[in-house]
Amino acid sequence: MRITTGPRPRAKLAMRRSVRDSLFTPATERRLVELADVDPEEVIEDFADTTVLADVDVLITSWGCPPLEHDVLERAPRLRAVIHTAGSVKHHITDACWERGIAVSSAAEANAVPVAEFTLAAILFAQKRVWQISALYRRHRTFLPWTDHFPSVGNHRRTVGLVGASRTGRRVLDLLRPFDFDVLVADPYLDDAEATSLGARLVDLDTLLAASDTVSLHAPSLPETRHMIDRKRLGMLRDGATLINTARGDIVDTAALTEECGAGRIHAVLDVSSPEPLPTSSALYDLPNVLLTPHIAGSVGGELERLTEHSLDELARFAAGLPFTDPVQPAHLNRSA
Ligand SMILES: NC(=O)c1ccc[n+]([C@@H]2O[C@H](COP(=O)([O-])OP(=O)(O)OC[C@H]3O[C@@H](n4cnc5c(N)ncnc54)[C@H](O)[C@@H]3O)[C@@H](O)[C@H]2O)c1
Repeated sequence: MRITTGPRPRAKLAMRRSVRDSLFTPATERRLVELADVDPEEVIEDFADTTVLADVDVLITSWGCPPLEHDVLERAPRLRAVIHTAGSVKHHITDACWERGIAVSSAAEANAVPVAEFTLAAILFAQKRVWQISALYRRHRTFLPWTDHFPSVGNHRRTVGLVGASRTGRRVLDLLRPFDFDVLVADPYLDDAEATSLGARLVDLDTLLAASDTVSLHAPSLPETRHMIDRKRLGMLRDGATLINTARGDIVDTAALTEECGAGRIHAVLDVSSPEPLPTSSALYDLPNVLLTPHIAGSVGGELERLTEHSLDELARFAAGLPFTDPVQPAHLNRSA
Protein backbone atom coordinates (compact mmCIF):
# COMPACT_ATOMS: atom_id res chain seq x y z
CA MET A 1 0.00 0.00 0.00
CA ARG A 2 1.37 3.42 -0.94
CA ILE A 3 0.71 6.04 1.71
CA THR A 4 0.21 9.46 0.14
CA THR A 5 1.26 12.38 2.25
CA GLY A 6 2.38 16.00 2.00
CA PRO A 7 6.03 17.05 2.05
CA ARG A 8 6.42 17.14 5.85
CA PRO A 9 4.03 15.07 7.92
CA ARG A 10 2.82 16.43 11.23
CA ALA A 11 3.88 14.06 13.98
CA LYS A 12 3.54 13.73 17.75
CA LEU A 13 5.10 11.45 20.33
CA ALA A 14 2.81 9.33 22.56
CA MET A 15 4.56 7.34 25.30
CA ARG A 16 5.74 7.70 28.90
CA ARG A 17 7.97 10.77 29.20
CA SER A 18 10.72 8.69 30.81
CA VAL A 19 10.60 6.37 27.77
CA ARG A 20 10.95 9.34 25.41
CA ASP A 21 13.96 10.53 27.40
CA SER A 22 15.66 7.13 27.06
CA LEU A 23 14.80 6.65 23.38
CA PHE A 24 16.07 9.93 21.94
CA THR A 25 19.62 11.25 21.83
CA PRO A 26 20.44 14.77 20.53
CA ALA A 27 21.33 13.16 17.16
CA THR A 28 18.09 11.19 16.77
CA GLU A 29 16.10 14.22 17.95
CA ARG A 30 17.72 16.28 15.17
CA ARG A 31 16.80 13.63 12.62
CA LEU A 32 13.21 13.55 13.94
CA VAL A 33 12.70 17.29 13.40
CA GLU A 34 14.29 17.06 9.96
CA LEU A 35 11.76 14.41 8.93
CA ALA A 36 8.56 15.81 10.38
CA ASP A 37 6.81 18.84 11.73
CA VAL A 38 7.10 17.81 15.38
CA ASP A 39 7.97 19.21 18.80
CA PRO A 40 10.27 16.57 20.34
CA GLU A 41 9.65 18.03 23.81
CA GLU A 42 5.89 17.46 23.61
CA VAL A 43 5.00 13.97 24.84
CA ILE A 44 1.41 12.75 25.00
CA GLU A 45 0.94 10.50 28.04
CA ASP A 46 -2.86 10.42 27.89
CA PHE A 47 -5.52 11.55 25.45
CA ALA A 48 -7.52 13.63 27.97
CA ASP A 49 -6.88 16.84 25.97
CA THR A 50 -9.47 16.41 23.22
CA THR A 51 -7.59 18.63 20.75
CA VAL A 52 -4.16 17.04 21.11
CA LEU A 53 -4.39 14.88 17.96
CA ALA A 54 -6.44 17.31 15.85
CA ASP A 55 -3.75 17.98 13.23
CA VAL A 56 -1.57 14.86 13.56
CA ASP A 57 -0.76 12.71 10.48
CA VAL A 58 1.48 10.21 12.19
CA LEU A 59 1.87 9.18 15.80
CA ILE A 60 5.20 7.90 17.10
CA THR A 61 4.41 5.63 20.01
CA SER A 62 6.28 3.51 22.52
CA TRP A 63 5.83 1.93 25.95
CA GLY A 64 3.13 3.72 27.93
CA CYS A 65 1.04 4.95 24.98
CA PRO A 66 -2.61 4.64 26.04
CA PRO A 67 -5.02 2.65 23.80
CA LEU A 68 -6.13 4.40 20.61
CA GLU A 69 -9.82 3.77 21.14
CA HIS A 70 -12.63 4.81 18.79
CA ASP A 71 -13.32 8.11 20.63
CA VAL A 72 -9.63 9.08 20.47
CA LEU A 73 -9.53 8.38 16.73
CA GLU A 74 -12.66 10.47 16.19
CA ARG A 75 -10.64 13.42 17.47
CA ALA A 76 -7.73 12.58 15.14
CA PRO A 77 -9.25 13.07 11.67
CA ARG A 78 -5.87 13.26 9.83
CA LEU A 79 -4.18 10.32 11.58
CA ARG A 80 -3.04 7.79 8.96
CA ALA A 81 -0.13 6.01 10.57
CA VAL A 82 1.32 4.85 13.89
CA ILE A 83 5.03 4.08 14.17
CA HIS A 84 5.70 2.02 17.30
CA THR A 85 9.15 2.38 18.84
CA ALA A 86 8.93 -0.94 20.72
CA GLY A 87 7.73 -4.49 20.02
CA SER A 88 4.13 -5.58 20.49
CA VAL A 89 1.39 -3.14 19.46
CA LYS A 90 -1.34 -5.10 21.22
CA HIS A 91 -1.58 -2.68 24.16
CA HIS A 92 -2.49 0.42 22.17
CA ILE A 93 -3.57 -0.53 18.64
CA THR A 94 -7.28 -1.36 18.84
CA ASP A 95 -9.76 -2.80 16.34
CA ALA A 96 -10.85 0.80 15.71
CA CYS A 97 -7.37 1.52 14.26
CA TRP A 98 -7.59 -1.43 11.85
CA GLU A 99 -11.18 -0.51 10.87
CA ARG A 100 -9.96 3.02 10.08
CA GLY A 101 -7.19 1.57 7.87
CA ILE A 102 -4.40 3.17 9.87
CA ALA A 103 -0.99 1.86 8.79
CA VAL A 104 0.97 0.51 11.77
CA SER A 105 4.68 -0.23 11.94
CA SER A 106 6.53 -1.93 14.79
CA ALA A 107 10.17 -2.12 15.84
CA ALA A 108 9.74 -5.75 17.00
CA GLU A 109 12.38 -6.85 14.47
CA ALA A 110 14.90 -4.43 15.99
CA ASN A 111 13.92 -5.49 19.51
CA ALA A 112 14.52 -9.14 18.59
CA VAL A 113 18.26 -8.44 18.12
CA PRO A 114 19.26 -8.16 21.81
CA VAL A 115 16.87 -10.97 22.82
CA ALA A 116 18.57 -13.30 20.34
CA GLU A 117 22.02 -12.22 21.56
CA PHE A 118 20.98 -12.85 25.17
CA THR A 119 19.64 -16.27 24.18
CA LEU A 120 22.83 -17.32 22.39
CA ALA A 121 24.89 -16.30 25.44
CA ALA A 122 22.46 -18.17 27.72
CA ILE A 123 22.66 -21.37 25.62
CA LEU A 124 26.47 -21.36 25.56
CA PHE A 125 26.93 -20.50 29.25
CA ALA A 126 24.14 -22.84 30.42
CA GLN A 127 25.62 -25.85 28.66
CA LYS A 128 29.08 -24.96 30.03
CA ARG A 129 27.42 -24.67 33.51
CA VAL A 130 29.26 -21.36 33.86
CA TRP A 131 27.32 -19.74 36.66
CA GLN A 132 26.95 -22.97 38.68
CA ILE A 133 30.71 -23.69 38.50
CA SER A 134 31.51 -20.04 39.23
CA ALA A 135 29.35 -20.24 42.39
CA LEU A 136 31.15 -23.42 43.53
CA TYR A 137 34.56 -21.82 42.88
CA ARG A 138 33.53 -18.75 44.89
CA ARG A 139 32.34 -20.96 47.78
CA HIS A 140 35.25 -23.48 47.86
CA ARG A 141 38.08 -21.20 46.65
CA THR A 142 39.82 -24.13 44.97
CA PHE A 143 39.51 -26.26 41.85
CA LEU A 144 37.11 -29.20 42.14
CA PRO A 145 36.39 -32.07 39.73
CA TRP A 146 33.68 -30.06 37.95
CA THR A 147 32.63 -32.90 35.68
CA ASP A 148 31.71 -34.99 38.76
CA HIS A 149 29.25 -32.23 39.68
CA PHE A 150 28.05 -31.71 36.11
CA PRO A 151 28.59 -34.84 34.02
CA SER A 152 26.93 -33.35 30.93
CA VAL A 153 28.99 -30.11 30.94
CA GLY A 154 30.10 -28.57 27.64
CA ASN A 155 28.94 -27.39 24.23
CA HIS A 156 30.06 -30.20 21.94
CA ARG A 157 27.27 -31.71 19.79
CA ARG A 158 24.41 -30.70 22.04
CA THR A 159 20.78 -30.62 20.96
CA VAL A 160 19.13 -27.22 21.16
CA GLY A 161 15.35 -26.93 20.78
CA LEU A 162 13.61 -23.66 19.94
CA VAL A 163 9.89 -23.27 20.57
CA GLY A 164 8.58 -20.69 18.09
CA ALA A 165 10.17 -19.66 14.77
CA SER A 166 9.38 -16.07 15.66
CA ARG A 167 11.47 -13.04 14.70
CA THR A 168 13.58 -13.77 17.75
CA GLY A 169 13.60 -17.52 17.18
CA ARG A 170 14.81 -17.02 13.58
CA ARG A 171 17.61 -14.73 14.72
CA VAL A 172 18.67 -17.33 17.30
CA LEU A 173 18.63 -19.99 14.57
CA ASP A 174 20.92 -17.78 12.51
CA LEU A 175 23.29 -17.20 15.42
CA LEU A 176 23.43 -20.97 16.09
CA ARG A 177 24.68 -21.80 12.57
CA PRO A 178 28.45 -21.75 13.32
CA PHE A 179 28.11 -24.29 16.17
CA ASP A 180 27.99 -28.08 15.96
CA PHE A 181 24.55 -28.31 17.56
CA ASP A 182 21.66 -30.41 16.39
CA VAL A 183 18.89 -27.79 16.23
CA LEU A 184 15.20 -28.65 16.58
CA VAL A 185 12.27 -26.28 16.19
CA ALA A 186 8.60 -26.61 17.14
CA ASP A 187 6.08 -24.18 15.66
CA PRO A 188 2.57 -25.03 14.44
CA TYR A 189 2.88 -22.42 11.66
CA LEU A 190 6.15 -23.74 10.19
CA ASP A 191 6.65 -26.44 7.55
CA ASP A 192 9.54 -28.87 7.05
CA ALA A 193 11.03 -27.02 4.09
CA GLU A 194 11.12 -23.68 5.90
CA ALA A 195 12.58 -25.28 9.05
CA THR A 196 15.33 -26.86 6.94
CA SER A 197 16.08 -23.52 5.29
CA LEU A 198 16.40 -22.05 8.80
CA GLY A 199 18.97 -24.71 9.71
CA ALA A 200 16.69 -26.74 11.99
CA ARG A 201 14.55 -29.88 12.03
CA LEU A 202 10.82 -29.42 12.58
CA VAL A 203 9.44 -31.65 15.35
CA ASP A 204 6.41 -31.51 17.61
CA LEU A 205 6.75 -29.87 21.00
CA ASP A 206 6.82 -33.10 23.03
CA THR A 207 9.56 -34.60 20.83
CA LEU A 208 11.57 -31.38 21.15
CA LEU A 209 11.30 -31.36 24.95
CA ALA A 210 12.39 -34.98 25.26
CA ALA A 211 15.32 -34.68 22.84
CA SER A 212 16.91 -31.32 23.73
CA ASP A 213 19.76 -30.48 26.11
CA THR A 214 18.57 -26.86 26.06
CA VAL A 215 15.07 -25.64 25.25
CA SER A 216 14.54 -21.95 24.49
CA LEU A 217 11.06 -20.43 24.33
CA HIS A 218 10.26 -17.84 21.62
CA ALA A 219 6.49 -18.19 21.29
CA PRO A 220 4.05 -15.36 22.07
CA SER A 221 1.70 -15.16 25.01
CA LEU A 222 -1.68 -16.24 23.62
CA PRO A 223 -4.65 -18.04 25.17
CA GLU A 224 -3.39 -21.29 23.56
CA THR A 225 0.22 -20.86 24.74
CA ARG A 226 -0.69 -20.16 28.39
CA HIS A 227 0.97 -22.90 30.50
CA MET A 228 2.00 -24.65 27.26
CA ILE A 229 5.00 -25.79 29.32
CA ASP A 230 3.04 -27.36 32.15
CA ARG A 231 4.02 -29.95 34.78
CA LYS A 232 3.67 -32.84 32.34
CA ARG A 233 5.84 -31.19 29.70
CA LEU A 234 8.46 -30.08 32.24
CA GLY A 235 8.62 -33.75 33.21
CA MET A 236 9.52 -34.60 29.60
CA LEU A 237 12.76 -32.58 29.80
CA ARG A 238 15.93 -34.64 30.13
CA ASP A 239 17.71 -34.76 33.48
CA GLY A 240 20.16 -31.83 33.50
CA ALA A 241 18.39 -30.02 30.64
CA THR A 242 18.12 -26.22 30.67
CA LEU A 243 14.91 -24.30 29.98
CA ILE A 244 15.46 -20.72 28.76
CA ASN A 245 12.51 -18.34 28.84
CA THR A 246 12.97 -14.90 27.30
CA ALA A 247 9.41 -14.97 25.89
CA ARG A 248 6.60 -14.56 28.42
CA GLY A 249 6.22 -15.92 31.94
CA ASP A 250 2.71 -17.29 31.49
CA ILE A 251 3.87 -19.78 28.82
CA VAL A 252 5.31 -21.81 31.73
CA ASP A 253 3.52 -23.08 34.85
CA THR A 254 5.61 -21.24 37.46
CA ALA A 255 4.62 -23.51 40.38
CA ALA A 256 5.58 -26.65 38.47
CA LEU A 257 8.82 -25.06 37.24
CA THR A 258 9.74 -24.02 40.79
CA GLU A 259 9.25 -27.63 41.94
CA GLU A 260 11.28 -29.13 39.07
CA CYS A 261 14.12 -26.65 39.60
CA GLY A 262 13.88 -27.03 43.38
CA ALA A 263 14.39 -30.79 42.99
CA GLY A 264 17.59 -29.95 41.06
CA ARG A 265 16.57 -32.08 38.10
CA ILE A 266 16.66 -29.30 35.48
CA HIS A 267 18.27 -25.86 35.10
CA ALA A 268 16.55 -22.65 34.03
CA VAL A 269 17.42 -19.22 32.64
CA LEU A 270 14.43 -17.00 33.26
CA ASP A 271 14.32 -13.44 31.93
CA VAL A 272 10.55 -13.38 32.28
CA SER A 273 8.23 -14.86 34.89
CA SER A 274 4.63 -15.02 35.97
CA PRO A 275 3.96 -12.94 37.97
CA GLU A 276 6.55 -10.33 37.15
CA PRO A 277 8.43 -9.58 39.31
CA LEU A 278 8.20 -12.83 41.26
CA PRO A 279 7.05 -12.59 44.89
CA THR A 280 10.00 -11.99 47.25
CA SER A 281 9.38 -15.44 48.78
CA SER A 282 9.88 -17.30 45.46
CA ALA A 283 12.47 -20.09 45.68
CA LEU A 284 13.55 -19.25 42.11
CA TYR A 285 15.58 -16.26 43.42
CA ASP A 286 17.92 -18.51 45.40
CA LEU A 287 18.23 -21.77 43.49
CA PRO A 288 21.80 -22.37 42.25
CA ASN A 289 20.50 -24.02 39.06
CA VAL A 290 18.38 -20.97 38.12
CA LEU A 291 19.65 -17.77 36.52
CA LEU A 292 16.99 -15.13 37.01
CA THR A 293 17.11 -11.75 35.24
CA PRO A 294 14.55 -8.90 35.45
CA HIS A 295 13.21 -8.78 31.86
CA ILE A 296 16.41 -7.33 30.38
CA ALA A 297 16.79 -9.52 27.27
CA GLY A 298 15.00 -6.93 25.13
CA SER A 299 16.38 -3.49 24.38
CA VAL A 300 17.92 -1.63 27.32
CA GLY A 301 20.38 1.28 27.55
CA GLY A 302 22.16 1.95 24.26
CA GLU A 303 20.17 -0.82 22.56
CA LEU A 304 17.12 1.48 22.64
CA GLU A 305 18.73 3.60 19.93
CA ARG A 306 18.23 0.69 17.51
CA LEU A 307 14.46 1.02 18.08
CA THR A 308 14.53 4.80 17.60
CA GLU A 309 16.54 4.50 14.39
CA HIS A 310 14.07 1.89 13.12
CA SER A 311 11.17 4.29 13.78
CA LEU A 312 12.95 7.19 12.13
CA ASP A 313 13.62 5.05 9.04
CA GLU A 314 9.91 4.24 8.96
CA LEU A 315 9.05 7.94 9.42
CA ALA A 316 11.32 8.77 6.46
CA ARG A 317 9.45 6.21 4.35
CA PHE A 318 6.10 7.63 5.45
CA ALA A 319 7.27 11.17 4.59
CA ALA A 320 8.37 9.92 1.16
CA GLY A 321 4.99 8.26 0.55
CA LEU A 322 6.48 4.76 0.77
CA PRO A 323 5.02 1.77 2.61
CA PHE A 324 6.56 0.71 5.93
CA THR A 325 9.37 -1.85 5.97
CA ASP A 326 7.85 -3.59 9.01
CA PRO A 327 4.09 -3.15 8.80
CA VAL A 328 2.01 -4.94 11.42
CA GLN A 329 -0.39 -7.36 9.74
CA PRO A 330 -3.67 -7.48 11.72
CA ALA A 331 -4.39 -10.97 10.32
CA HIS A 332 -1.22 -12.30 12.04
CA LEU A 333 -1.94 -10.86 15.49
CA ASN A 334 -3.59 -14.09 16.66
CA ARG A 335 -0.22 -15.87 16.38
CA SER A 336 2.29 -13.11 17.06
CA ALA A 337 3.63 -11.25 20.09
N1 LIG B 1 12.41 -10.65 27.29
C1 LIG B 1 12.19 -9.58 26.55
O1 LIG B 1 12.65 -8.49 26.88
C2 LIG B 1 11.39 -9.71 25.27
C3 LIG B 1 11.59 -8.75 24.24
C4 LIG B 1 10.89 -8.94 23.04
C5 LIG B 1 9.99 -10.01 22.88
N2 LIG B 1 9.82 -10.87 23.93
C6 LIG B 1 8.93 -12.03 23.78
O2 LIG B 1 9.59 -12.97 22.93
C7 LIG B 1 8.60 -13.78 22.25
C8 LIG B 1 8.87 -13.76 20.76
O3 LIG B 1 8.64 -12.44 20.26
P1 LIG B 1 8.75 -12.17 18.69
O4 LIG B 1 8.51 -10.72 18.46
O5 LIG B 1 10.00 -12.78 18.21
O6 LIG B 1 7.50 -13.02 18.18
P2 LIG B 1 6.78 -12.95 16.75
O7 LIG B 1 5.51 -12.22 16.90
O8 LIG B 1 7.75 -12.51 15.72
O9 LIG B 1 6.48 -14.46 16.40
C9 LIG B 1 5.63 -15.28 17.11
C10 LIG B 1 5.73 -16.63 16.41
O10 LIG B 1 5.36 -17.66 17.35
C11 LIG B 1 4.87 -18.74 16.61
N3 LIG B 1 3.86 -19.44 17.40
C12 LIG B 1 2.54 -19.10 17.60
N4 LIG B 1 1.94 -20.02 18.38
C13 LIG B 1 2.91 -20.93 18.70
C14 LIG B 1 2.90 -22.13 19.49
N5 LIG B 1 1.78 -22.58 20.09
N6 LIG B 1 4.05 -22.83 19.61
C15 LIG B 1 5.17 -22.41 18.98
N7 LIG B 1 5.23 -21.29 18.23
C16 LIG B 1 4.11 -20.56 18.09
C17 LIG B 1 4.30 -18.20 15.30
O11 LIG B 1 4.88 -18.90 14.22
C18 LIG B 1 4.76 -16.75 15.24
O12 LIG B 1 5.43 -16.47 14.05
C19 LIG B 1 7.24 -13.20 22.64
O13 LIG B 1 6.71 -13.92 23.73
C20 LIG B 1 7.59 -11.79 23.09
O14 LIG B 1 6.61 -11.26 23.96
C21 LIG B 1 10.49 -10.74 25.10
